[in-house]
Amino acid sequence: MSEATPQTLTIIRPDDWHLHLRDGPTLAAVVGDTARQFQRAIVMPNLQPPVTTGEQALEYRERILEAVSQAGLGDNSFTPLMTLYLTDNTSAEEIRMAHSTGVIHAVKLYPAGATTNSDAGVTDLLKHCSAALEAMQEIGMPLLVHGEVTDPDIDLFDREAVFIERVMIPLRQQFPELKVVFEHLTTKDGVDYVSQAEGPIAATITAHHLLYNRNALFQGGLRPHWYCLPVLKREVHRQALVQAATSDSPRFFLGTDSAPHPRGLKEHACGCAGCYTALHAMELYATAFSRAGRLDRLEAFASLNGPAFYGLPVNTGTLTLERRAFTIPATLPMGEHELVPLAAGETLEWSLVA
Ligand code: DOR
Ligand code: ZN
Repeated sequence: MSEATPQTLTIIRPDDWHLHLRDGPTLAAVVGDTARQFQRAIVMPNLQPPVTTGEQALEYRERILEAVSQAGLGDNSFTPLMTLYLTDNTSAEEIRMAHSTGVIHAVKLYPAGATTNSDAGVTDLLKHCSAALEAMQEIGMPLLVHGEVTDPDIDLFDREAVFIERVMIPLRQQFPELKVVFEHLTTKDGVDYVSQAEGPIAATITAHHLLYNRNALFQGGLRPHWYCLPVLKREVHRQALVQAATSDSPRFFLGTDSAPHPRGLKEHACGCAGCYTALHAMELYATAFSRAGRLDRLEAFASLNGPAFYGLPVNTGTLTLERRAFTIPATLPMGEHELVPLAAGETLEWSLVA
C-alpha cells in the first residue's frame, strides 16, 4: 500500500451547487440522500409550475425543511439555498425582494424549451430580462445558466458551444460585473471559455460528466438512465472536464444536477432527461478524482470553490470517504414509484463512512 494511494479521505463537509429536489412525495423520498452528504444545496426552481416569485421560493423552502425534519435528519443537518426561475416577465423588484430574504441566493436561466419543465423559460434574454439582470448585477446575485441554445437547426451535441457565442458572450459584454455560473458544463469549449473569460464567472460540473462519455448512452443497447441534458459528450470533452475539476482553478465546483424521475418515465418511448446521483454523489466524485490521481483536489472542488464564489462561509463539519467497494442499488423507493440511480448495480471504488 503506497502513500500515493490513500485509503481514506476526510474533507470539509461539501455542498451541492446544483440540485433538483422536486416536491411532495418525491422530495420526501430524495432529500435525505443529499442531506446525508451535503451541508447545503442550490435547489433548482423548475417545479410545475416553476418557482418564479420570492414568495413561492420561501414556501418551497419550508416544504424542504419539513421534509428534512420528517426524514429524521436533525434541524441543522441541511440548508437549502433557494433560487428563482427567470422568465421574460421577472421584474427588478421581484429580484430585489427575493435577495432581501437572505435565503434566495440565485436566479436560474432556462432557455424556453431547453429541458425538463422549461416551457416558461426565457425566449430572448437580452431583449426581455435586462431590468432583472441589471438588478442582479448591482446586488451581486448570481445568474445560473442552462447553457444550451434551443434552435432546432443546431445539432444537439453542439448546443453548448453555440450558446457561448450567441448568448454567453453578448450577455457578459452587456453585464460585465454580473456573477454567472455556467451550470453542468459538458464541453471542452465550455471549459476553455470559463477558464479564460474575464470577470466573475464559474461553472458546476456533474459527476456523470466526469465519469462517462456519450458511449455510455449506447453501451449494449439504449440506456435511458444515462440520458440527461446537456447530453453526455465525446471523450475529449470528458477529459477536459476532469482536467478542469482537478485543476487549481477556483472557478470549477461541484454540482450534481441530480434529477429524479420515476422509472416509468425514464424507461419510456420518450424518456425524460435527468440522472439520479444524489444517493451516491460523493462516491461518484471520489471515484472520478481517484481515477485521475487527484484526490487531493476533491476538497477544493467540493467544499471551498463554491462558497468562495457565492460569498458564503465554508462549512465547519467534515465528511470521510474510504476506499471500499460500494455497489449501487438497483432501485430506490420514490413515493408510489421506483427510482433508478445512475449506474445501478455497478460497483464504485469509494464509500462514504457513516
Ligand atoms: O437532465 C436534466 N434534468 N437536465 C436538466 O436541465 C433538468 C433536469 C431535470 O429537471 O430533470
Ligand atoms: Zn439541472
